[in-house]
Amino acid sequence: MSGKSVLVIGGGGREHALCIGLSQSNLVAQIHCTPGNAGIADVARIHSVSADDVAGIVELSGNVGADFVVVGPEAPLCLGLSDALSEKGIPCFGPCESHAQLEGSKLYAKQVMQSIGVPTAKFRKIRTTGEAEDALDAFDGKPWVIKRDVLAGGKGVVVSENRDEVMTFIESSIITDGYVLIEEFLPGEEASLLVIMDAEEFVCLPASQDHKREFNGDKGRNTGGMGAYAPAPVFDKSVESKAIENIVKPMHQWLSNQPIPYRGVLYVGLMIDESGDPFVVEFNVRFGDPECQVTIPLIASDLGELLWSASTDCLQKYDLEIHNSAALTVVLASEGYPGTPITDREIIGLEEIHHGILHHAATAKKSGQILSTGGRVLACTGLGDDLSAARKQAYEMIYSIELEGSRFREDIGHRAL
Ligand code: AMP
Ligand code: GLY
Repeated sequence: MSGKSVLVIGGGGREHALCIGLSQSNLVAQIHCTPGNAGIADVARIHSVSADDVAGIVELSGNVGADFVVVGPEAPLCLGLSDALSEKGIPCFGPCESHAQLEGSKLYAKQVMQSIGVPTAKFRKIRTTGEAEDALDAFDGKPWVIKRDVLAGGKGVVVSENRDEVMTFIESSIITDGYVLIEEFLPGEEASLLVIMDAEEFVCLPASQDHKREFNGDKGRNTGGMGAYAPAPVFDKSVESKAIENIVKPMHQWLSNQPIPYRGVLYVGLMIDESGDPFVVEFNVRFGDPECQVTIPLIASDLGELLWSASTDCLQKYDLEIHNSAALTVVLASEGYPGTPITDREIIGLEEIHHGILHHAATAKKSGQILSTGGRVLACTGLGDDLSAARKQAYEMIYSIELEGSRFREDIGHRAL
């Protein structure tokens, strides 16, 4: 069953990691990617259809003769890309529109978890200022956690002890969205668990830890993620078995009983409390970015076969093998990120990098130069026998790169090391 053609959707560091993994697959003969980036162009044929143009992607899949499609970001899944491809008989790694609501709507995700008893923070829906005052009294505010129920790229959540700030956020959210959610604050340490699923089976990849705040010491604004490492020591054997029994198995069973099963990756954002009990903070219906960049390199078995198997309900026959090593990635961000980034600046020094994996995120090649095109520009991924070796390599890589105004966190991996 070799010689497959795959179309990867997206153009960030996550999709570069997927394309590199697929380029090492014995199953995959041809890789197409849209819209891609300057790094992806080294391993895949790049196209110019935007990642949220569902009709354009379906047409492109036919034109390039894709045997299957691997979807990086959530937006096209929430717009029904997987459903549109399956109407054409093209297998898709990425769930149907109704399951994509697990990421698209926090209220929906909460209701599903509540209905099947998956551990998560208690919550309440707030529709009026009166309800808001009651809710702020009922939840203790150490701190309060308020979430908009929209895809907001990490910007729809406020965690604060300041009642005025929280009230202002609630009021503006009610005006734009009609309602907002309040949640009990969960103390603990976060981890990201990526679970590959199809109708019959699931397999868990090594858990990782993201660094969402912009500055060292987890200070500053939330970002898409400034760095990550895997495996995450906080996710030990005992946490793993609780997460599988209490979260992954019930979710998989529930999804498999729906009219269309889940085929793709379920990202389980966990909070692990002092007693080692895991709670779900959020679900995403795609690989994390930058979690993907540190997880894919740890997979020793064939990535093409893994993604193809999940897309076609053959996971039961797949043997996942994981390297006994570690990966750590540091994101190089443009000046201005996570606000409006300054782009179109030349990136210098990339040819000096001979170790690790240089994951391109927001890059384009113009007249022989590599230019920045967005907020998170590169992810420098170090590999090693352990986290400290991986960390050393990742920082050697990033220190040899020049991009005017750019910055990165110097403490990626601090909790584990
Ligand atoms: P979310 O978009 O739901 O993942 O929330 C963004 C971030 O806010 C998470 O990664 C956590 O760091 C934090 N957060 C969200 N919900 C909670 C909660 N219930 N308790 C503590 N921290 C939370
Ligand atoms: N790095 C967090 C996410 O991909 O949602």
